[in-house]
Amino acid sequence: MVYPFSMPDGKPDELGHIPVLPDEVVELLDPQLGEVFVDCTAGLGGHAALIAQKLGPTGTVVLNDLDQRNLDRAKVNVAKALCPDDPEAAKVHAIRGNFAELPIRVRELGLSADMILADLGFASTQIDDPGRGLSFRFSGPLDMRLDQLMPMTAAELVNTLPERDLAEIIWRYGEEKSARRIASKLVAAREVEPITTTDRLAELVRSVSRGPRGSINPATKTFQALRIAVNDEIGSLEALLRVMGIALRKQSQTGTGEESSWIGQGARVAVIAFHSLEDRPVKRAFGEWVKSGWAKPITKGVVVGTDAQIALNPRARSAKLRVCRSVRGDASG
Ligand SMILES: C[S@@+](CC[C@H](N)C(=O)[O-])C[C@H]1O[C@@H](n2cnc3c(N)ncnc32)[C@H](O)[C@@H]1O
Repeated sequence: MVYPFSMPDGKPDELGHIPVLPDEVVELLDPQLGEVFVDCTAGLGGHAALIAQKLGPTGTVVLNDLDQRNLDRAKVNVAKALCPDDPEAAKVHAIRGNFAELPIRVRELGLSADMILADLGFASTQIDDPGRGLSFRFSGPLDMRLDQLMPMTAAELVNTLPERDLAEIIWRYGEEKSARRIASKLVAAREVEPITTTDRLAELVRSVSRGPRGSINPATKTFQALRIAVNDEIGSLEALLRVMGIALRKQSQTGTGEESSWIGQGARVAVIAFHSLEDRPVKRAFGEWVKSGWAKPITKGVVVGTDAQIALNPRARSAKLRVCRSVRGDASG
C-alpha cells in the first residue's frame, strides 16, 4: 500500500485530505473481496475509498454522514475506488443522518456489515470552512452545526442558555477550568449585544481565561465544548455504542446469527476517538462487550499515529483507534 495517501491513486485529494491511521484501519479491519463495509462517518470518503479498493466490484459500501456535502463527495470517490471501470455500477449507498439510526437504515437496505468504522468528530472541509463557524482561526457566524438541518446553532446556545448551564457545558465538554468565569463574561456581554461571530466569542473568552497555555489558544476548549453540545456528539456516540452492543450481544447469543442484524457474524468494529471525552465511552463499551463474551479485541489497548503520520497529518496526533470482532454464536468466533 502506498503511504501517505488518501485517495486510491496514492495521493492526497485536491483538498489535501489524508485520513488518520490509514494503514492501520485497513490492516485491522482486514477487508475481503465482496464484503459489506458500513462507514458511520463517511467524511470525504478517505477511509472508505481505501477499503473499497480491497472489496472490489462485488463489494458493498454504506456511507453515512450528517453532512450532505461530504456525503456527495464521498460517494463519488468511493464508487471510483470500488468499481474503477464502471463507477455507476458500484454498490455504494449514501445515507444522510445520525449514525445512531444506522441499524434501521442498514436493515432497510437488507444488508449486514462485515466491517464498521466510526471516525469521530469533524472533517477538514468542516473545520476549515469559515461559514460553519467551527474554528476561532476564521471569522464567521457562530453556527457550529455539522448538519445544517439541526435546530440549534452555537449562537443560539450562547445567547439563550442560563449562565449555570453554559458554565456546565464549557466545563464538561471543554474540561475548561475557567468555565464559570467564561460563562459569566458571555452572559454579561450578550446583555449588551448578542454574540454572533467566532471572533467575538474568541475575544470574550481570551479576555477572562487563563492563558496562553503553551501553544494552545485559550479559546480552544470553549469552542470544543460548544461544538460538542450543538451536535450532541457524546449523546450520539453513546447511542451508537448502545446499538452496536445490542447487535453484538444478539450475534453472540444466536447460534446462526440474527438474519436481520445490521452487524454480521465475525464483523470487525473500529472506532477512532480524538479526545478523552470520546475515548472514555468507547473504551468502556469495548471492555463490556469483551467481558460479556460478545466481542474479541483485535487491538490491545489503543493504536496511535506514528511520528511520520503526525508530521503529515497533525490531526493524527490525538487519534486513538480501537478495533474488536463480533463473536459468532456458534463460539467459533
Ligand atoms: C473525521 S470525519 C471522517 C473522515 C473520514 N473517515 C474520511 O476518511 O474522509 C467525521 C465525519 O463524521 C461526521 N459525523 C459526526 N458526527 C456524526 C453523527 N453523529 N452521525 C453521522 N455523521 C457524523 C461529520 O460530519 C464528518 O464528516
